[in-house]
Amino acid sequence: MSEAILLVGGRGTRLRPLTTSTPKPLLRVAGVPFLAHQLARAAEAGVTRVVFATSYLAECFEAEFGTGDAFGLDLVYVTETEPLGTGGAIRNAARHLTCGGDEPVLVFNGDILSGLDVAGLRDGHAASGADVSLHLTRVPDPRAFGLVPTDPEGRVLGFLEKPTSDAEIVTDQVNAGCYVFTRTVIDRIPDGRPVSVERETFPALLAEGAHLRGVLDDSYWLDLGTPAAFVRGSADLVQGLVHSPALPGSPGQALVLASAHVDPLAVLTAGTTVCEGAVVEAGAIVEGSVVLPGSRVEADAVVHRSVVGRHAVVGTGSTLHDVVVGDSAYIGPHNEIPSGVRLACGTALAAQALRTSAPVQV
Ligand code: GDD
Ligand code: MG
Repeated sequence: MSEAILLVGGRGTRLRPLTTSTPKPLLRVAGVPFLAHQLARAAEAGVTRVVFATSYLAECFEAEFGTGDAFGLDLVYVTETEPLGTGGAIRNAARHLTCGGDEPVLVFNGDILSGLDVAGLRDGHAASGADVSLHLTRVPDPRAFGLVPTDPEGRVLGFLEKPTSDAEIVTDQVNAGCYVFTRTVIDRIPDGRPVSVERETFPALLAEGAHLRGVLDDSYWLDLGTPAAFVRGSADLVQGLVHSPALPGSPGQALVLASAHVDPLAVLTAGTTVCEGAVVEAGAIVEGSVVLPGSRVEADAVVHRSVVGRHAVVGTGSTLHDVVVGDSAYIGPHNEIPSGVRLACGTALAAQALRTSAPVQV
């Protein structure tokens, strides 16, 4: 018996408009809802029961995963009427744990793709006698994360969430969003009000001398919170750079789901996924991108490191680089969408409405 709490209540604002009607953890990554990868990996690590801490678009999670039979997991859903923050969500979800006070409880952020040895983190926690174990990873620019300096033995010395001044950048080790709590430590988080585990709980535990154990791990790690990371994570899974038992196929250049139609004269590369019911026409080139269910990439279009939303259309000869196309958006023929653009759901662009370079010669 091994239990986990999954934090999935965030609004996914950095991924709008994709998260307007689908919560971030359920967006299709390598052809399946992202959480399918996390749940399959948790099951592989011996987790048997997972409590979902939901808030934003809460009803979607149970509709997708039900009781968890497909993963051999027992899934339980808890909803916060008002978001309780990460710490408040952990405390609230813990009511539904069945384990004893001395048992280790895994806690996962719901947007992390990683190659971490989850069983090793949990089993090492029990052996170390720590109050909390934190998975840490190194990143080139730590400012968007929680900084976690440690001593040479791995004991956590501080926790600085999203530092704003250069003086606070004391390490490149960051909180990787997976913890093991000894159950009684969760029960001490204040109940019934918003609490940030990063800004309140961890600093308070350190101040009272608790043993926080940092486990630095250099396996694959990515927070899928931004469009660029989302498409990269999907492409990396498709290409086998990180293992997932939930990948619907073998690793390769592209993943085409059943009922998608890709013309033999289209080119799919760099870990592209074409989801159910989507169509890619002749001469189109789709690189490192996610083509969501029911969408259409028309002839000779070029889609590079982009997401094409559900039932959206990329018109003949249009080009997209690092673009997010919202659900049901329509891009007429021969548009050039500039890098970084996000088209709102349902937007319609006439033929040649957007050009970023000289007009095509005819
Ligand atoms: N239930 C619930 N309620 N879940 C929440 C809430 C809430 O009020 N707020 C956030 N979450 C969930 C999100 O859905 C996500 O799975 C997780 O908590 C973390 O929230 P993010 O919004 O993704 O946070 P972040 O990426 O900016 O920062 C966090 O992750 C970093 C690693 O990727 C922090 O934990 C950082 O310290 C860490 O470095
Ligand atoms: Mg995140």
